[in-house]
Amino acid sequence: MENPNICLALTGETLKKNEETARKYSGYVDIFELRADFLNHSELPLIAEFTGMVDKKVILTVRRERDGGKYRESEASRVNLIKAALSGKFDFVDVEEDLRDREYEKLITSSGAVVIRSFHDFDNVPENLVSRMRKMAVSGKEIVKAAVMPKSTADLLSVFKAAGELKDLKKILIGMGDYGFSTRVLASRLGSFLTYTSALNEHQAAPGHIDPETMEEVYRFSAIDESTRLFGIIGNPIGHTLSPKIHNPAYRKLNMNAVYVPFKVDDVKAFFELADLLQVQGFSVTIPHKGNVIPFLRKKDPATEKTGACNTVVRTAEGWQGHNTDVDGFLYPLVRHYKGSFPRGIKVTVIGAGGAARAVVHALAESGCSVLILNRTASKAEKLAENFGCKWASLDSEGLKMMEDFSELIVQTTNAGMEPDTTLDPLEGYSFKGNEIVYEIIYKPLITRFLSRAREKGCTVITGDKMLLAQAWRQFKLFTGHEYPENI
Ligand code: ATR
Repeated sequence: MENPNICLALTGETLKKNEETARKYSGYVDIFELRADFLNHSELPLIAEFTGMVDKKVILTVRRERDGGKYRESEASRVNLIKAALSGKFDFVDVEEDLRDREYEKLITSSGAVVIRSFHDFDNVPENLVSRMRKMAVSGKEIVKAAVMPKSTADLLSVFKAAGELKDLKKILIGMGDYGFSTRVLASRLGSFLTYTSALNEHQAAPGHIDPETMEEVYRFSAIDESTRLFGIIGNPIGHTLSPKIHNPAYRKLNMNAVYVPFKVDDVKAFFELADLLQVQGFSVTIPHKGNVIPFLRKKDPATEKTGACNTVVRTAEGWQGHNTDVDGFLYPLVRHYKGSFPRGIKVTVIGAGGAARAVVHALAESGCSVLILNRTASKAEKLAENFGCKWASLDSEGLKMMEDFSELIVQTTNAGMEPDTTLDPLEGYSFKGNEIVYEIIYKPLITRFLSRAREKGCTVITGDKMLLAQAWRQFKLFTGHEYPENI
């Protein structure tokens, strides 16, 4: 099967605006879709001219409100609008599944256009997806399109399975929204004719669109084929993960045929099934699944064993192997700060006792530090402290007093201060002296209120991006066997 095309949905209010957007992205796009339902009313008589304004094939779509579009007038006026536009010799015309009008379709095909017969389901993945798509292939010449809404990992799995049953069908199969994002990047795995994208900072034509430049520059869409090795990240939420922008450019730099895709996952078991179906070679794990993947691992590295948290899963001949690169990733910026010789015995306060704190405390304890754990919920601090032989206290005045003796290094592991709630400061009552090293593992924003207070007092601060990168470099090595390339 041919590699899928990148289609840019044009949602401007004028043809001129669409022409400008088309020109901007032309280098990344194979097909434009004129979403005429977004056009101002006064533009509608001019639609036929649009094919002459761009240098690529064009799909004409006038989407009704109930299919997620903006066209509000009668069905008869919609059909008449499209009929009148056919003189523009569009390459494709989108015709909804329920609009069965042979004469109308004949007009479309005799104008030289291919029919894209589509249906949209913004609520579900219909159970009869496969039989419904088969039924939509009436003439055998049309492209059958289904845009459905997976609302779980199990739903996403059913979309990929449906694609497997429809290999012979000329089709476009899309999972919309966050759960469906991978279907947009992996259109070739689904055997889709194209993937839809939207221009940056313009109306997203459907939930889950990214822009064509990101699709090509980050995900290298047009290079994804049968032999592309698939990697990814699972988490929930996952929308703002930076990891694809760390891993994918390295594949490009090393000329590796591989892609790294984010998967929103609610159910780890369903994801492992999907990972087998797609032959995922390895994946990163983030909140809240670092503990949830453990029952599925055949082997675990010592850091995973000790922390009970796994952030890296690699396919091996014997089964899935779990690693925890957060531990070494956390230490890396400190080791650099101390010029390679991490001083044993330094006294450290760790704020927080959640999943992230486990990796941090383990790393510090292994490095011979004395650790004080302070947490809002004291019982959690106590439990973690018992595991690693540390001191503990609540995040109150008593805890702050104990800190005085444990403030050479302060590590902030809670999500207090992270976007979107950037006003929080987990250590509000503490006045920095200025000689502490203050390390925070949050990277959005890079400088939180907490770090900003520390910096104002002259403390050395270490931001969370350093750990993010260092853990990713180690993952890259585990996934590919190659060192992460320099100068990215
Ligand atoms: P993660 O895997 O990111 O560590 P987690 O396991 O849910 O996430 O842990 C969140 C940590 O942030 C906990 O230590 C939590 O404190 P509690 O155990 O008292 O819940 C801490 N945390 C979250 N919001 C906080 C806030 N506003 N102030 C102080 N600590 C906070």
